[in-house]
Amino acid sequence: MSLPTSLPSWRKLEEHHAQIRSLHLRDLFREDPERAERFSVSLEDIVFDYSKNRITNQTLDLLLQLAREAELPRWIEKMFAGEKINVSERRAVLHIALRKPRGSSVFVDGKDVMPEVHAVLDRMREFSESVRTGRWHGYTGRPIQDVVNIGIGGSDLGPMMVTRALRPYHSSLRLHFVSNIDGTHLVETLRGLDPETTLFLVSSKSFGTLETLTNARSARAWFLDKAKDPAAVAKHFVAISTNEKAVVAFGIDKKNMFPFWDWVGGRYSLWSAIGLSIVLAIGMDRFEELLAGAHAADEHFRTAPLEKNIPVLMGLLGIWYNNFFQASTHAVFPYDQYLEFLPAYLQQADMESNGKHVQKDGTPVAVTTGPILWGAPGTNGQHAFFQLLHQGTKLVPADFLVPAQSHNPLGPSDEHHRMLLANCLAQTEALLRGRTAEEVRAEMEAAGLAAEDIARLTPHRVCEGNRPSNTFLFRKLTPRTLGSLIALYEHKIFVQGTIWNIDSFDQWGVELGKQLAQNLLPEISGEPARKPHDSSTERLLRLVRGWL
Ligand code: F6P
Repeated sequence: MSLPTSLPSWRKLEEHHAQIRSLHLRDLFREDPERAERFSVSLEDIVFDYSKNRITNQTLDLLLQLAREAELPRWIEKMFAGEKINVSERRAVLHIALRKPRGSSVFVDGKDVMPEVHAVLDRMREFSESVRTGRWHGYTGRPIQDVVNIGIGGSDLGPMMVTRALRPYHSSLRLHFVSNIDGTHLVETLRGLDPETTLFLVSSKSFGTLETLTNARSARAWFLDKAKDPAAVAKHFVAISTNEKAVVAFGIDKKNMFPFWDWVGGRYSLWSAIGLSIVLAIGMDRFEELLAGAHAADEHFRTAPLEKNIPVLMGLLGIWYNNFFQASTHAVFPYDQYLEFLPAYLQQADMESNGKHVQKDGTPVAVTTGPILWGAPGTNGQHAFFQLLHQGTKLVPADFLVPAQSHNPLGPSDEHHRMLLANCLAQTEALLRGRTAEEVRAEMEAAGLAAEDIARLTPHRVCEGNRPSNTFLFRKLTPRTLGSLIALYEHKIFVQGTIWNIDSFDQWGVELGKQLAQNLLPEISGEPARKPHDSSTERLLRLVRGWL
C-alpha cells in the first residue's frame, strides 16, 4: 500500500476538515434529531454511541472511503487467514484463533493450530479445577490459597486488568501480580503469604525478560527458604511461555509448563495460557465466556459492513482527530471501579502497537501515528484533570465506558450507581454543549450577582464545548461483555495501524533501553564503563555509586 497521504480520500479529508472544523456539536444535534440513533451501533449488550463526535455524514463517508482505499477489508481477511502480517518479525497475528470455538480451523504454515489451542485450554481447565477445589496440594499437603503471577507488560497487564475487572466472579483464591524489578513489589506482595499455600505462575512469552526471571528467582529463594527441598518447587511453580528450553533451564519441569505460540503477541496474549491467573480466579467456564465475548467481537469485526463496524468506526474517528485535528492524545474513562486498570492495559496495547515511525516496508511514515493514550476511572478524573478537558486549549477525544447495572448496589435505590451514571452522562453532555456566555450571565443574574462580578466572571465560566467523545454503554460488566470490549479495542488498533501502513505487532523500540540497562548494570557496582556515556549519565552514575 502507498502512503496514506497519497490516497485520494486523505486530501479530501483535509479539505473537508477545513470546511467543518468550526461547526459546533450543539448545532449538529439541533439540526438532526435522529443523530444519536444514526450514529450508534450495538453489539449484544454493548451500545457504541459515537454521535458526540465532530462529524457529518460526509465526514463519515470520506473516512470510510479512506478505509476502503487503504484496503482495510483485505487486511482484515489476511489477519483472520493467518497470513504473516507482522512483517518485521515474519509472524502471523492470531489472537483471534485463541477465542475461536472448538471445531474451527486456522492454518499457520499449512498446519491447523486449533487442536493445540484447545488442548492447552483443556489443560488449563484441569489444572485450575484441581487448584480451585483443593485437589492440588502444596508440598506439605495444604491446598493453595494465594496465587502470584510474575510477569511484565503483556504477561502482566492483560491478566491483571481482567482479574481485577472480574472480581465479583472470584472464588476464595487470592490473586496477586508482581511485575516491577523494584524489589519492593515482590517483598510487599509476599509479605504475609505462606510458602506452603502459595502458587507462582511465571509468565513470560520469551522467558528471557530480566524483570520476570529476576523476580521468579527471588520468589523461588523465598519459597526454598522455608520449604528447603528443591523437589517441592514442582508443586509451587508453573511456567507459561513459548520457550520450553528456557523454562527447563530455569528449573521448571516441562510438565508444569503451559505453552503458547509465536503468533500470539505479548500484548494480545491474555486469551492464551497467559490468562491462567484469570482462570484460577474466576474458573474455566467464566474464562470461556470471556473468550466467547471476544469471539463475538471478532465475528462482528470480520463480517459487519464498515459503516456499522464498531472497531472500524473507533479507528477512523481516532484518525480523524489524530491526523486532521492534530489531537495528540486519546483518553479512556471507565465509569466502573472494576475497570480501574483498563487505561493502563490499553496504554500497552495501543502505544506499543502503534507507536511507530516507519511503514511496513521500513520507509518513514508520512503522518503522525499512535496517540498518547491515558485515562483514569470516573468520577475520580473529574476532580483531577477534567478541568483541562472542559476549558484547556488542547483537544482531547475521549471514550466513556459505563455499565447500566452495578455489581454492588449500594444505598437506597442503588444511589451510588445512579450518581455514577448521572456523572458519566453529564460529562459527555458538558463536553458536547459547553456553556455559552449568555447562559453564564443568565445563571449569575438569577443568582443575584452584581453586574460588575458578572462581567468579571463570565469569561472564566464559559465552556466552549464541542469536545468529542464516544460512549460505550453496556448492561453489566460480565466476562462476556468484557471480552467483547477488549477485542473491540484490539481491532481498533489494527484498523489504525492498517491505515497508517505500519506494523502494529512488533516492538523494536523497547530493545535499546533493555540493552543499555544490561551495559549499565556492572557499572552500578563499580566496574569500568565498556563504552563512554554522555556527561549526564556519567555524573548520575558517580552519584549513585557514592550513595549505594
Ligand atoms: O519490553 C516489551 C515486551 O517485549 C512486551 O512486548 C512484552 O509484553 C513484555 O516485554 C514481556 O515480555 P515477555 O512476556 O517475553 O516476558
